[in-house]
Amino acid sequence: MEPKMRKNLACLALEGTAHTAGVAVVDGRCGVLADERHSFTSKTGGMVPRELAEHHTARFPALLEAALAKSGKGFGEIDCIAYSAGPGIGNALSVTATAARILALLRGLPIVPVNHAVAHIEIAKKLCGAKDPLVLYVSGGNTQVIGYENGRYRVYGETLDIGVGNLLDSFGRSLGMGFPAGPELDRVYFEAVDYIELPYSVKGMDVEFSGLQTAAERKIGKAGNATLAYSMMHNAFAMLTEVTERALAHTGKKELMVTGGVAASKALQKMLAEMCSGRGTKLKMCPREYATDNAVNIAWTGMQMFGAKRAVTADKAFTNQDFRVDAEEVNWL
Ligand code: ATP
Ligand code: FE2
Repeated sequence: MEPKMRKNLACLALEGTAHTAGVAVVDGRCGVLADERHSFTSKTGGMVPRELAEHHTARFPALLEAALAKSGKGFGEIDCIAYSAGPGIGNALSVTATAARILALLRGLPIVPVNHAVAHIEIAKKLCGAKDPLVLYVSGGNTQVIGYENGRYRVYGETLDIGVGNLLDSFGRSLGMGFPAGPELDRVYFEAVDYIELPYSVKGMDVEFSGLQTAAERKIGKAGNATLAYSMMHNAFAMLTEVTERALAHTGKKELMVTGGVAASKALQKMLAEMCSGRGTKLKMCPREYATDNAVNIAWTGMQMFGAKRAVTADKAFTNQDFRVDAEEVNWL
């Protein structure tokens, strides 16, 4: 259970771990008063850390102004500032934390450092109405099977190399697709008729994708693109489904909740739905708008942490590029 909070509280949050700069305001019951976002894009699809920092620096003032205007709140009615402290890209994190610190100092407000992965989980739980789910967090950079246990979100399994979204985007690029390639690959998946043998790499509860990527890329030109895309995705998603099912069996959790950009994949959803229906597990997908990076999830987590006395003074506002989900002490549930 989340702490009981007054509706008229307001948390203003900044997200800036990677490509998206966001500013949001939520109330004490997770009502979204404002949700402003702007994502960095580039022609090559890459993210240069310095350019990301410049993007966020340039965008935050206008995003902040718009968010405050839409929220209908003056600064005097904001109770705390939250920001994404990590994990993420160093330069982007620094800019975001600095902006948050300045706001907190200028307005004399408490500040809450929020773990980005925890925030993905908290907003998904709220929107899905999930109580104690096993979480499959699948995005560009992250792939983890997570569950709450004893004061922390524990990691039961994860990728040992790249995130599954990264796998899709890199392989799609090799097939000449634009960035991000996930949505197009997901369409191709359902058009394929053949499967070819490719590596399937599960190590205990962890998965590895780079061998699968290399093997699939070596077959470009020797097998059809649809066959390759289907076979590559089939293996990647089956690997994820296997470790997720084992984590469900191990933890005894009754709901599976999926979030992160790759949660939008119909192919992944289909495979997970079959596994869940086979064992009577409820499957809950985070609404797409809030499964990708945004500041609403930071604001809602910040609000809960504020209620649990986790706000600090601006001098204690840190960043951590490798801030693991299981490093955060969860005292607000
Ligand atoms: P994080 O910082 O949490 O790692 P991220 O910045 O990598 O997040 P998200 O926006 O959560 O990104 O997810 C982006 C990924 O989702 C991309 O790799 C993209 O290809 C993939 N994706 C988006 N839609 C689909 C889809 N329909 N099917 C498969 N993959 C998809
Ligand atoms: Fe994210």
